[in-house]
Amino acid sequence: MTIQRRVVVLISGRGSNLEALLAARLPLEVVAVVSNRADAAGLELARRHAIPVEVLSAESVPLREVYDQYLQDIIESYRPDLVVLAGFMRILGDALVRHFERRLVNIHPSLLPAFPGLHTHRRALAEGVTVHGCTVHFVTAELDRGPIVAQAVVPVLPSDDETTLAQRVLAMEHRLYPEVLRAWAEGRLTWQADRPQWQAAVRCLGLGAS
Ligand code: GRF
Repeated sequence: MTIQRRVVVLISGRGSNLEALLAARLPLEVVAVVSNRADAAGLELARRHAIPVEVLSAESVPLREVYDQYLQDIIESYRPDLVVLAGFMRILGDALVRHFERRLVNIHPSLLPAFPGLHTHRRALAEGVTVHGCTVHFVTAELDRGPIVAQAVVPVLPSDDETTLAQRVLAMEHRLYPEVLRAWAEGRLTWQADRPQWQAAVRCLGLGAS
């Protein structure tokens, strides 16, 4: 029997990326879902899949350093091989990020390094870019600047508004994240000692590039 790698998923909201990961039936075990919000819809989804859930709200632990330490302890109690940020809307402190170095991935709704931070679709439209997309990257202390694993590209259409563009990107997120995690679970993501980049079979999805 092969031992499946253990993944803890962090969410804050609806959990559609979590849903895509679960639907993909990846060769890994989601051992816990952690949220900073008790009302995150994704928690219900996790419960339906009989996945243990944990909630750590900012109100319960106002001091940022203490919050991060608690969060780290909760995550570590599940002995994860990888921590997956799937819409976790809280910035993680340096110490926690360092603790999970090379074990912490995020999906961001833009083609990084363009549009780090919030409101990516609005900003993409305002800039008049013709392509947009999403990025899976390893998390480092610098917000949205960690090593890029893979990206998915979508066109920006003249008729787009924030909603239609967000929908098109989200549909690609739901393809890209499972692809990356499948590659990771199957040992196809390998860290190159001399180069801070992860090599994946799938580096780019969309617009004919695969
Ligand atoms: C996604 O757009 C993701 O890229 C961003 O937050 C959103 C989460 O959506 N980091 P969901 O909760 O997975 O539906």
